[in-house]
Amino acid sequence: MYKISQRRYLGNKNRILNFIDEIIKAEVGEFDSLCDIFSGTGVVGEYFNAKNKRIISNDLLYNNYVSLNAFLNPEPFNEAKLLKIIDEFNELEVDESNYFSDNFGDRYFSMKIAKKIGYIRENIRDLFVNNDINLKEKNILTTSLMYSVDRIANTVGHYDAYIKKDIREQAFVMKMLDLSKDKNTNNEVHNTDANLLIRDIECDVLYLDPPYNSRQYCDAYHLLENLSLWNKPEVFGVAKKFDRSKIKSEYSLKSAAESFDDLIINAKCKYILLSYNNMGEKGNSRSNAKITDEEIIKSMSKRGEVKIFEKDYKAFTTGKSSHSDNKERVFFVEVKN
Ligand SMILES: C[S@@+](CC[C@H](N)C(=O)[O-])C[C@H]1O[C@@H](n2cnc3c(N)ncnc32)[C@H](O)[C@@H]1O
Repeated sequence: MYKISQRRYLGNKNRILNFIDEIIKAEVGEFDSLCDIFSGTGVVGEYFNAKNKRIISNDLLYNNYVSLNAFLNPEPFNEAKLLKIIDEFNELEVDESNYFSDNFGDRYFSMKIAKKIGYIRENIRDLFVNNDINLKEKNILTTSLMYSVDRIANTVGHYDAYIKKDIREQAFVMKMLDLSKDKNTNNEVHNTDANLLIRDIECDVLYLDPPYNSRQYCDAYHLLENLSLWNKPEVFGVAKKFDRSKIKSEYSLKSAAESFDDLIINAKCKYILLSYNNMGEKGNSRSNAKITDEEIIKSMSKRGEVKIFEKDYKAFTTGKSSHSDNKERVFFVEVKN
């Protein structure tokens, strides 16, 4: 079974869940609801979901929305039916080419496996269109497909490029997800800009984990976005990316500090925690933080007294640069104003 954390994702917070929990225990104590408004994989929400909190999840990218729904939304699903479908998918031998193999075969995957991935995705679509599976079941199958794809992709963990050498033939295996069956009641999952959603929601704890540099997540995960949406758009360039102009994040642009300030001002919650990396000017320009510490503190101070917690942390980098003195920081404020 796949656990929610078994996916490679830039900036994922798997390794600092305890650190976040320690801060919440010390500074917040008991609470009912948490909004993870830049959810990514959703591991932070899932961690507190397991502790019976009401979780609001959100991400701008559709592929994350699909997996957040699979893991955290409260809709019912038929596990036995899904296990049977997954077994049938694993047995498949696919010869005919399709959208996925035409564009990604012999690049990110062997041609044989790319044919199978495209065939399975089309099949998930058909099962849903024919009412053989409900939306939750479609999201579970698509998420299982994405987690399986991630394990064998010929990349360093994201899809900005593929590794240009002979592709090793690997077994492609789909698995059921490790889903909590009784803890998701009252959870919500959204797929929108955090600055829009913030105006519509209320929660006890607001956890913020925005992108911190100019690397756009829609570029890094275009292939999974394409596979989850399955609109079969035209793709361009060596990396075979589709047009992502509508899903660029403000938090990776010059306007990041302005967006952050707007988010903080409009938050309706009791506590705010922000994870923000301290890469500063140390890395190459693409790694430089888009919001300065002064800007963060200035915005958060509008709501109350800001505290900063730090922990040494070896980040998941893309391989080229790695900073041993990386510190994971959490900025905290108890909302008073
Ligand atoms: C640092 S990652 C979050 C990682 C996550 N905490 C985890 O552990 O997997 C930042 C996420 O914010 C999302 N994002 C970027 N801009 C956004 C926006 N304006 N609104 C909502 N989500 C956004 C990205 O797609 C990305 O998944």
